[in-house]
Amino acid sequence: MSASIATPMTLQTTIEQRVDALLQQMTLAEKIGQMCQCDASQGYAPEYLAEGLRAGRIGSVLNVADVNTVNELQRIVVEESRLGIPLLVGRDVIHGFKTIMPIPLGQAASWNPDVVRDGARVAALEAATAGINWTFAPMIDISRDARWGRIAESLGECVLLTSELAVAMVEGFQTDDLAATGSIASCAKHFAGYGAVESGRDYATTNIPETKLRNVYLRPFKAAVDAGVTTLMTSFSDLNGIPATANDFLLRQVLRDEWSFDGLVVSDWDSIRQLQVHGLTANDKESAYEAVTAGVDMEMAGDAYAYHLAELIDDGRVSLDTIDNAVANILRVKFGLGVFENPYTDATKLPPIANEHAMQTARQAALQSVVMLKNDHGTLPLSADQLNSVAVIGPLADAPYQQLGTWIFDGDVELSVTPMHAIHSLVGHDLDVRYLRAMENSRSKVSESFDEAVEVAADSDAVVLFLGEESILSGEAHSRADISLPGDQAELVRRIRETGKPVIAVILAGRPLTLTNIVDQVDAILFAWHPGTMGGPAIADLLFGIESPSGKLPATFPRMVGQIPIYYSQKNSGKPASWETIAHIEEIDSRAPQTSLGMSAFHLDTLFTPLFAFGHGLSYAAFDYQNIRRSTHEVKLGETVTVSADLTNHGDVAADEVVQFYMRDVVASVTRPVKELKGFRRVHVAPGQTVSVDFELHTDDLAFFGRDMKKTIEPGQFHVWIGGSSETELRTEFWIVEG
Ligand code: NOJ
Repeated sequence: MSASIATPMTLQTTIEQRVDALLQQMTLAEKIGQMCQCDASQGYAPEYLAEGLRAGRIGSVLNVADVNTVNELQRIVVEESRLGIPLLVGRDVIHGFKTIMPIPLGQAASWNPDVVRDGARVAALEAATAGINWTFAPMIDISRDARWGRIAESLGECVLLTSELAVAMVEGFQTDDLAATGSIASCAKHFAGYGAVESGRDYATTNIPETKLRNVYLRPFKAAVDAGVTTLMTSFSDLNGIPATANDFLLRQVLRDEWSFDGLVVSDWDSIRQLQVHGLTANDKESAYEAVTAGVDMEMAGDAYAYHLAELIDDGRVSLDTIDNAVANILRVKFGLGVFENPYTDATKLPPIANEHAMQTARQAALQSVVMLKNDHGTLPLSADQLNSVAVIGPLADAPYQQLGTWIFDGDVELSVTPMHAIHSLVGHDLDVRYLRAMENSRSKVSESFDEAVEVAADSDAVVLFLGEESILSGEAHSRADISLPGDQAELVRRIRETGKPVIAVILAGRPLTLTNIVDQVDAILFAWHPGTMGGPAIADLLFGIESPSGKLPATFPRMVGQIPIYYSQKNSGKPASWETIAHIEEIDSRAPQTSLGMSAFHLDTLFTPLFAFGHGLSYAAFDYQNIRRSTHEVKLGETVTVSADLTNHGDVAADEVVQFYMRDVVASVTRPVKELKGFRRVHVAPGQTVSVDFELHTDDLAFFGRDMKKTIEPGQFHVWIGGSSETELRTEFWIVEG
């Protein structure tokens, strides 16, 4: 190992100087080695891997989460390779390591950056005990298609919500001191456009016009880059004919030239060799050429770089500068992490796994992520004082693994507290809790237990049905064409309804579901996503009114699949649907001219509105918004305006409310969405209390990418709304004028 690398960083030695010094000592083979990431999931160091590490052929490993193995791998590179360059150890720590937070989409329903940051912090501290120094999170693909299984991993459909929560997650993983023990590098993925895959099929094609790419899909990535995210991962998908892994517009023009990103870009799993499958290249050598020239610094789990980069340099097709830049991007992250100084992990220097703080963080996240979709006649909260018995029925009431959701490689199922257990411990001494699973799993089509379920329900004072999707029904490569409750669950609901007892549905799922066929069959719905380790206690607290629901939807719930894509920030079109046109559906006369239907943007067979709108979520408090106002009617370019409204809690309980602030740019040179979220705030309001909630907006916040693909702010009229969901009608306006 060379002396210069072993020398600790002094005040005089910057990371850039260390990167340069190290690069100068490296052979071409060692440089290419840094660009190769290898699967190390065996749980030990097999000889072929050890040999590659000694020879400097591997710069990073992934999928090893055992501290002894990680330390051994680090020892081999540090002590036995020529330059002793330590490894980046990557892992999908997506929503927790051992202690599992709600799925990211659930966390997004909290609309609370603190919850998201705290969850990522716990995950980083736990992952660091295993020697992991790089997580492949956050996943910040704008997701507007609930068929896509990966919507579970996303932060939803909204640019602003995703951007703010992405930043919080990056902060939670990396902290403001990346080199500190327990900080790990974060990876914004998948760059870019993956959420727009056609028909919601994973890995499928995306076609996104540049204005939409810039105004929607790229913005969360820009926010993550500005927040200091150290790495990005390319998307598997094809973007407008050029797969993201070979897309130099994305990787060079936008990421490096416009955003000045100097961190590391990693491919997705084998996505370089897949360029051939896309039909972009004829063989692995060409794939390596396309990826490296586009700007992919490291290849994940493939061998196109290992086998072909040297040859491409010999051929004179790839320059040494290209290689040096890629290696510099990788080394910069390694130096930033302090892994040269501290290559080994001593888990005793970190907090214990699943400690009290971790469990409380998971509980708080689950609590704030549950969305109460409906609550007729104040069915919820249940009162333990007024009930003698409650039936707890359904395949997801006591399913410790399923409640953790997708991407929980290391999640500890033993830590899960299920709703059934939590309800028992909360109210079991006061009332009779009768549990029946009724279905083996969410997909079961065997209804032979339904008679018994009906008996249990009929014999109880209230019924809580735990329905939804098992975790395997969402996540990577787990898309669905029908997103209603699977199996015979709707039939179970129908049978239970016949008992006439109050019916509460608690739904655990990895995506928005179409609930049209059950929504009128139940009195109340709590949508809990996959709530993680502490989902049970959080749900029990909400059911029995210890806490009030406060989650809001981060993604629109369609009435039926045919409405997809349906999202709140749609464009108006030239013929927007309205409630008047809907009335015509009832009056279809096959002899009448087609224009009798009003010729507007609606489906003949359903309403044009969603079942539950983005931002929707009810509370046990009774919130009312009044008196929207703005500080000025005319705002000069470069100045700010404050928009405020009064929020009153007319209810009997104190509760959190997520106040939402929307805007519309009424006339613009490129058409703009009918509503765009511009701010949000979680506030706690006591019964009878009125609070003024203010949102300050700088005219820069209204900028969008115009026809020339440059950011522009155009003077003119702006509508603004404040309220408790994207359907708020409490509106005022202001005008932007030239300065
Ligand atoms: C493929 C997934 O697309 C990506 O998100 C993940 O990080 C990698 N595999 C590594 O597991």
